[in-house]
Amino acid sequence: MFRTNTCGELRLADAGRRTTLAGWVQRVRKMGGMTFVDLRDRYGITQIVFDNEHDAALNDAAVRLGREFVVQIQGTVAERTAKNANLPTGDIEVLADSLTVLNPSEVPPFTIEDETDGGDDIRMRYRYLDLRRNPVRRNLELRHRMTMEVRRYLDSKGFLEIETPMLVGSTPEGARDFVVPSRMNPGQFYALPQSPQTLKQLLMVSGMDRYFQIVKCFRDEDLRADRQPEFTQIDCEMSFIDQNDVIELFEGMAKHLFKEIRGIEINEPFLRMPWADAMKYYGSDKPDIRFGMRFVELMDTMKGHGFSVFDNAAYIGGICAKGAASYTRKQLDALTDYVRRPQIGAKGMVYARVEADGTVKSSVDKFYTQETLQELRKAMDAEPGDLILILSGDDTMKTRKQLCELRLEMGRQLGLRDRNKFACLWVVDFPMFEWSDEEQRLMAMHHPFTHPKDEDIPMLDTDPAAVRADAYDMVINGVEVGGGSIRIHDSELQAKMFEILGFTPEKAAEQFGFLMNAFKFGAPPHGGLAYGLDRWVSLFAGLDSIRDCIAFPKNNSGRDVMLDAPSALDQKQLDELQLALAPAEE
Ligand code: AMO
Repeated sequence: MFRTNTCGELRLADAGRRTTLAGWVQRVRKMGGMTFVDLRDRYGITQIVFDNEHDAALNDAAVRLGREFVVQIQGTVAERTAKNANLPTGDIEVLADSLTVLNPSEVPPFTIEDETDGGDDIRMRYRYLDLRRNPVRRNLELRHRMTMEVRRYLDSKGFLEIETPMLVGSTPEGARDFVVPSRMNPGQFYALPQSPQTLKQLLMVSGMDRYFQIVKCFRDEDLRADRQPEFTQIDCEMSFIDQNDVIELFEGMAKHLFKEIRGIEINEPFLRMPWADAMKYYGSDKPDIRFGMRFVELMDTMKGHGFSVFDNAAYIGGICAKGAASYTRKQLDALTDYVRRPQIGAKGMVYARVEADGTVKSSVDKFYTQETLQELRKAMDAEPGDLILILSGDDTMKTRKQLCELRLEMGRQLGLRDRNKFACLWVVDFPMFEWSDEEQRLMAMHHPFTHPKDEDIPMLDTDPAAVRADAYDMVINGVEVGGGSIRIHDSELQAKMFEILGFTPEKAAEQFGFLMNAFKFGAPPHGGLAYGLDRWVSLFAGLDSIRDCIAFPKNNSGRDVMLDAPSALDQKQLDELQLALAPAEE
């Protein structure tokens, strides 16, 4: 037996007991004739004491231990004189009478401590060492507890966990696919699933009625803090339900997770915000509603007073930052620079302060009378001490998105985006389609299998851009943590959808014939949703990036620097797959 106890469990009540511990050497300190070793495993740290007077040879061996050596010790638990209140085991130590080095270690490339000296790159390269650190390990423990709770909740609601294949066919809609060449079918490729969307719909046709899967999904898209090329969905689908049924069941799951994992009881129903309102008041389909600062449209107030920027604008909108009138000129210039950054793209920013006596002082005073500025103040519901920030532009959607970035930045600067506060909502009534400049055609905003709202179906022929979908996203603190929809289960409506998306009937049959055929054999009404597990875990853990709750994540260039993947194939493998590489460009 390697150990009788873990390094996290011995307490004062164990004093006098014999114990065998095994773990990693965190630290070795020599003090006079004594050597103190902090021994660490997944469960904690226990101080081990070696005493020269007691056993000089053993003490010599302890002094020679290095960081991250794997050792086993035997000894007696004793009360500690200098207690360490920061450690759960801080009341005791183990007086060692035997030491076995199970495996020595080279000096690790960074210190394995909560606050490490290792930079991002080196920690990613040695991820298995990074995972020994408490903060990282805790994220994986949280992830485990969440998946256990998800399974418990869904099992209690009668869901079946069913696996679907990882080698599937490539589909044109959505993000780019990762593809896998087939040796047995030369010149042909599988794709890794972007999600099991069509397969879970087929399971509904099979009568599986309530399906879920905690499943890896793969998307070849540009990476951000909340995006990984492979990530995990809690993917669900149900039959004989309407939108309300799905929302209620998965809101129940969200509340279950909040309660079990974070100890937060939420009793009220989540807000359901139409997409059009989310865009109008927050400039985003994933609004962070932990704080107000809703947009106010100012076309009526600010247009037509000789300030050409506003006079020529298609949209003018403002936010009111409570108590921020004390912002200095330097801070305001920095904010202007912020919205002018190429990623945001605003041309400039107008500000107005409400002074203590109620007068409004703005950066465009020469174009506006105090009377108009008072109208502005009223429209913005601003009080003395408040700061009004205004953006304008010739494209309403683009300007709202810029104002959204400004609002989020102000929320951050004013400390309104508290990680321990959670604001959940459903965004509903998404448009069915969005125009793609790149493709020069309408694209499905969610995916092509989404059911249009019944009352909007007649508009499919006349004004498809105005058709709304039976689609819903769950948003927490400005993060889209899940999304889904009611699906089309009628092959004719599905065919029409493909037509609007610019597919010829032949192309639609080639790509999605399997689904449209299945719908001819008795498809039940169905719908579902997928939660992004990585995003849930990182929200609950208060992380900046979902990377930190994934055991072996990719970096921002999509590389696994530990495995050094992706990498080149040797010629033999390429030949077997009948693949030839294009010559490298000059
Ligand atoms: P969607 O594409 O909205 O829907 O994905 C569902 C949820 O998955 C998470 N997510 C991601 N997480 C990390 N990295 C990524 N690259 C990434 N992409 C998405 C988000 C998102 O809300 N089949 C549909 C669901 C359905 O209609 O049932 C789908 O995949 O949290």
